[in-house]
Amino acid sequence: MTTVLGIETSCDETSAAIVRGANGGARLDSLVILSQDVHRIFGGVVPELASRAHLTAIVPVVERALADAATTLDGVSAVAVTYAPGLVGALLVGVSYAKALAFARGIPLVAVHHLEGHLFAQSLEHEDAVPPFTALLVSGGHTLLVDVEEWGSYHVLGRTRDDAAGEAFDKVGKLLDLPYPGGPHLERLAREGDPTRERFARPMLKKGQRPGDDDYYDVSFSGLKTAVRRARDAAGDELPSHRADLARGFQDALIETLVEKTARAALAFKRDRIVLGGGVACNRALSDAMRSRAAEFGAQVFAPSPRLATDNAAMIARAGLFRLERGDVAGLDLNAYATRDLPGVVPFGPSALRPSDP
Ligand code: KG4
Ligand code: ZN
Repeated sequence: MTTVLGIETSCDETSAAIVRGANGGARLDSLVILSQDVHRIFGGVVPELASRAHLTAIVPVVERALADAATTLDGVSAVAVTYAPGLVGALLVGVSYAKALAFARGIPLVAVHHLEGHLFAQSLEHEDAVPPFTALLVSGGHTLLVDVEEWGSYHVLGRTRDDAAGEAFDKVGKLLDLPYPGGPHLERLAREGDPTRERFARPMLKKGQRPGDDDYYDVSFSGLKTAVRRARDAAGDELPSHRADLARGFQDALIETLVEKTARAALAFKRDRIVLGGGVACNRALSDAMRSRAAEFGAQVFAPSPRLATDNAAMIARAGLFRLERGDVAGLDLNAYATRDLPGVVPFGPSALRPSDP
């Protein structure tokens, strides 16, 4: 039985977790997530403050994760840490701490790509959320559509050309005077909105798009954000009574684009499982819409619970266990990177261009 301590400090959550595993299976024994509330005052993450808050929190957060799993450092067989992508100063806190632990205890250090972590999150809750599947990762920093043939083998099909889905929620939240981060507030407001009053064009979703077109899987949300701003400005005195309709119109447009692009990918690769990840996967309207679309072609949708959808160290420990079992151990010269390609990306094969059911 391998016991992995996972550490995640890529943005504004200081998190540590213990995952135990053997023979391909894994069990989450503890997860501690400390969210840095300080950024709410500024309406966005302030990198310098994030790094300092990680420094203050990292030791007690790790100690708490060990205690919750009824273990100590003596029981840890490897330490897995997010090394990219993210805020470099924030990442370096986790990376330096993990390196020190690995060196002091003489245990392997495993470098985990944050987005590979998100791909693994759901498997900690559902034993069926394993490859092959279509993955939609939607967070504040990323929007990625990936075909996961097997762990470690990823076809990146589509990505955002501008704002990430969560970023779009947060920016539109700001336009509608909602607190930061806007996503959950906007989802709540949208429930009160009339879906027929504000219909925005579905971004990057056109009839006649064909597999192989570079906009077939990609998304873009900045035009939608501008459309919401124009509609907000045009509302004038009616804005207070119209905010919910704007929120609903925005959310419906964004969700329809994400759902259709994900369905295209699942159909093209004949996948009957769709795994959602990232903070926006907390959005019930998104998971409900994805479920009803997927039911049309017999696919099952897995959406993680909020603690595992948003940034957390459990997914880093789980992905770390996979990397460790493959022998992917990092050296003590490991660095942190703001951007880095997902490891295990495989190039497009002809099957990516030829959907079975257009
Ligand atoms: O994965 P995450 O915790 O951090 C990043 O890696 O970015 O995602 C945070 C993002 C924020 O943009 C937040 O507004 C969004 O996830 N979010 C939501 C919801 N809950 C969180 N967006 C839409 N609906 C939600 N219910
Ligand atoms: Zn994330």
